[in-house]
Amino acid sequence: MISANSSVCVEIRDLWVRYCPKNRWEKETIALNGLTMNIMKNEILSIIGPAHSGKTTLLRAINRLTELHRNVKIQGDILLNQASIYDPQVNVVELRRKVGMVFARPVVLPKSIFENIAYGPRLKGIHHPAELEKIVESSLQAAYLWNEVKDRLHQPALALSGGQQQRLCIARVIALQPEIIMFDEPTSALDPISTGKIEDTLHELKTQYTIILVTNNTKQAARVGTQSAFFLMGKLIEMGSTEQIFTRPYAKKTEDYITGRFG
Ligand SMILES: Nc1ncnc2c1ncn2[C@@H]1O[C@H](COP(=O)(O)OP(=O)(O)O)[C@@H](O)[C@H]1O
Ligand SMILES: [Mg+2]
Repeated sequence: MISANSSVCVEIRDLWVRYCPKNRWEKETIALNGLTMNIMKNEILSIIGPAHSGKTTLLRAINRLTELHRNVKIQGDILLNQASIYDPQVNVVELRRKVGMVFARPVVLPKSIFENIAYGPRLKGIHHPAELEKIVESSLQAAYLWNEVKDRLHQPALALSGGQQQRLCIARVIALQPEIIMFDEPTSALDPISTGKIEDTLHELKTQYTIILVTNNTKQAARVGTQSAFFLMGKLIEMGSTEQIFTRPYAKKTEDYITGRFG
């Protein structure tokens, strides 16, 4: 299916995600309830909303991690650059490379800083040392970590601080040349200084990538997002420019959430 709007990066069409119960007597959970939205290229979309509103489920649907759960039912469609990600011809490994993901807690391999980043490109068949060195350096530069680690690339990545490890995870995603980078509460385990560095990194990344940032911190959403979306109980309540959402929200529920009256 071809869509008319080419500055749209991800188009979500009437997406339903249900988790079926393990036991007959339990109710199914509708994690996404007929979600329709467009995510534009080179924007930072902040997604906010209380726990259990379907934010993580959406990110995992966009790179087809959701279907790894045995008990999940997915209906509707997601288009990436105007082509359905559920098309049988789609190579899921390639999709997950194009749509990178950074999780709440840094997942660092028990290897050197260099090897953490070179690992993915090597799997893709890049083995030439000079080429790998170039990728490692440019990815670390892009994640604003290069200056802090350039003298100790061959030391264990696990010796880095939490904030540095999170930026290493960002560098590792960048090394695979994604189009979209999704972040699921990337600073929830970090102190304010490390959080600030990640937020600076996000701003810079926007020029090259489309960013989706799920955050439980509404102030962070307001600081970082160019667009913002508010989710509640599996539904998109509203979406718009960050300025509009945070100063003139249309929905009472959005206003209540951003002013801290619930959630
Ligand atoms: N693997 C799963 N099995 C069953 N229910 C799940 C699973 N993952 C998420 N859910 C349920 O789906 C709903 C949405 O969850 P989630 O997408 O994690 O929301 P959020 O990230 O906004 O907190 C919640 O009610 C959650 O309990
Ligand atoms: Mg979540």
